[in-house]
Amino acid sequence: MQRILFVCLGNICRSPLAEGIARERIAACCLDVTVASCGTAGWHAGEGADPRMVAAARAAGHDLSAHRARQLRACDYDDFDWLLAMDHDNLAELRKLASSPAQLAHTALFLEWTGIAPPTAFPDPWYGGEADFAAVVGLAERGVAGLIQRLQK
Ligand code: 4NP
Repeated sequence: MQRILFVCLGNICRSPLAEGIARERIAACCLDVTVASCGTAGWHAGEGADPRMVAAARAAGHDLSAHRARQLRACDYDDFDWLLAMDHDNLAELRKLASSPAQLAHTALFLEWTGIAPPTAFPDPWYGGEADFAAVVGLAERGVAGLIQRLQK
C-alpha cells in the first residue's frame, strides 16, 4: 500500500482539497493507496476546511466537510511514502525538518510529482476571492489525475 500526505501551510485550503479529490479518485479506481493532509503551521489545527474552499469544492461535486486540520508531525516522515508539498515554501519547510537523506528523498512538489507541470507552485487561494477558489479546484483535479496515472504505473 502507498501512503501519500499532501502538505500546505494552514491545512484548510489546498492540501485538504487535494486530499479530498484524491480520496474520491483512488476509491473509484480501487487503488491500494491512503491519503491524508496536514499543514506546516498549526494555526488552524482542529478546524474544518475554509468555508470558501468547502463551497468551491462542493460546487464541483467534492465533499470536504469531514476535514479537520492538523499540523505536520515528525512521525509523518515514516508514516507516509510521499510528502507532497503544494508550494516551494511548504517544500522548503518539509526539507528543513527532514532528519535523514531518506526522508528528504520522499518529499516533492505536488504539481511536479504528478507530472502535470514543471516545478510550479499550487496557488494559495486564501488571500483571494471566489474565482481563485474555483480555479484551484480545477487545478487540483488535474493534479490528482496525474497522481492517479503515476500510481497506476
Ligand atoms: P492553505 O492556505 O495553506 O492552502 O491551507 C492558507 C490557510 C491559512 C493561512 C494561509 C494560507 N493563514 O495565514 O492563516
